[in-house]
Amino acid sequence: MHRFNPEADIKPVWKAYAVPYENKNTVLGALQYIQEKIDPSLAFRYGCRYRRCGLCAVEINGKPAMACYTYAEDGLRVGPLSGLHLIRDLVVDRKSFFEELKKYSLYLEPSDGHNARGTPVMEPEQGARLRSCLECLSCISRCPNRSSGEGFGVPLIYVRLAQLHFDPRDRKDRLAQAKLLGIDRCRNCNKCFCPNGIAIIKDAIKPLLGG
Ligand code: FES
Repeated sequence: MHRFNPEADIKPVWKAYAVPYENKNTVLGALQYIQEKIDPSLAFRYGCRYRRCGLCAVEINGKPAMACYTYAEDGLRVGPLSGLHLIRDLVVDRKSFFEELKKYSLYLEPSDGHNARGTPVMEPEQGARLRSCLECLSCISRCPNRSSGEGFGVPLIYVRLAQLHFDPRDRKDRLAQAKLLGIDRCRNCNKCFCPNGIAIIKDAIKPLLGG
C-alpha cells in the first residue's frame, strides 16, 4: 500500500497490511478494513461503493482500476493514480482539473429544434460506453501528452466532446472544438485506459477526428 503524509514524509513508502480474506471482498473493502482496524490515518476516496461516482480510482499493480469493483487478493499493490498531484496516501488532486474543465464549455448547447450540423451515427454499444464515463480521471493520469506542454486537451475532455458530438440536441461543432484543443496531437498510444470499459481512442478520439 502506498503511504505518504506530506507533513511527515520526505517521499512515499510502500507498506504491507494483512487483511482477512473474505470471499468477494473488494479492494475498497480491504482499504476500509485497514482504516477501521489497523491505521485510521490511511487516506483514500470513495463515495457510492458501486461503480457510480468514480471517486475510488486508484492504481492496482500499476494499472488504473476502481477499488469498489476490483476483488481483493493476495499481494495487490495499491497506489494513487499516477500523473496527478498527490495529496496524501491514495488521494490525488481532482479539484484543479475540474476547475480547469470549466473553461471549455463542455455542456449541451441545444438547437432550436433544428440541428444544423446533422446528427452523426453512433453504434448503441458505443453510446452506452461513452455515457458510462465516471470522470474517475484514470484516463488522464496516463496520458503522455498531458504533461508535454503541447496544449493537448486530455482524454476525458474528448470523451465529453464525443458525448456532445453524438447528441442530436447539441448544435455546437464539437469536431472544430476538439481540433482547437489539440486532438491532432493524440499519439494513438492507448495509454488512456478506462477502467469502466470506454475504448477512448475508438469511441471518442477517432470520431472527433472525423474517422
Ligand atoms: S466508490 Fe463510487 S465508483 Fe467506486
